[in-house]
Amino acid sequence: MALTEQGQIPKHVAVIMDGNGRWAKKRNLPRSEGHKQGALVLESLFEECIRQNIKVVSLYAFSTENWKRPKSEIKTLFSLLDTFITEKLDTMVKLGVKLFISGDISKLPKRSQKKIETALAKTKKGKKLIANFCINYGSRDEIKRAALLILQSRLQKIKSLSELEKVQKRKISEKEFSAKLYTKTLPDVDLLIRTAGEKRLSNFMLYQAAYAELYFTETLWPDFNKKELQAAIRFYQSRVRKFGGLPDSEQ
Ligand code: FPP
Repeated sequence: MALTEQGQIPKHVAVIMDGNGRWAKKRNLPRSEGHKQGALVLESLFEECIRQNIKVVSLYAFSTENWKRPKSEIKTLFSLLDTFITEKLDTMVKLGVKLFISGDISKLPKRSQKKIETALAKTKKGKKLIANFCINYGSRDEIKRAALLILQSRLQKIKSLSELEKVQKRKISEKEFSAKLYTKTLPDVDLLIRTAGEKRLSNFMLYQAAYAELYFTETLWPDFNKKELQAAIRFYQSRVRKFGGLPDSEQ
């Protein structure tokens, strides 16, 4: 069921896809099976996002901290990403999905980087949904990187001592700072979903989710389906967003 009639639809939904390991463990399967099943959920997630008129979906696929996992699991995750991008590329194009990447992908295997580049080029005209894959992504890393980029661009412009003084005093606007994040021009996160019962942000979208509504569900990621997304949207529609002010009804 389309929920546009029932209230506001979040423009940007960010998802922490947690619980793949537990899904596999419950079935006596290797963790890789949980990840595999988790990747299979994505196509129907994209379909439902489009049906509900969500414009951006961000997926926490691999964090800057995930390098601490066993090498074999890391390999599985990148190979699943390669398979997903190869096998679902035509589907993404057909659906109107535009791929977007947040994170430092230069640290990924060359093969994955190439597949990502191809998919970025092939999906660049997608108008229905931006699928922001967060790979080797961590908010702290992203924020430090943005600060460095701003510093570098300001330093480049300094030609004299008086200019240095001016530059030191110049404030940084939110617009300027946001533009240096990996997410660049994407809108702020409206709804952040975390599956599998944990209630933490784990270094995900800390800047962009400043005013996001947070939705936690016990459902493990491989079991997350269209109905689950609808439940999250209904939760979002039940919230009164104030952004630090007062709701319209009390002004
Ligand atoms: C957390 O589950 C999930 C991840 C670290 C990676 C998410 C990856 C996928 C959904 C599959 C591959 C993705 C793509 C983009 C094709 P966990 O392993 O921490 O689960 P646990 O907490 O139950 O152990």
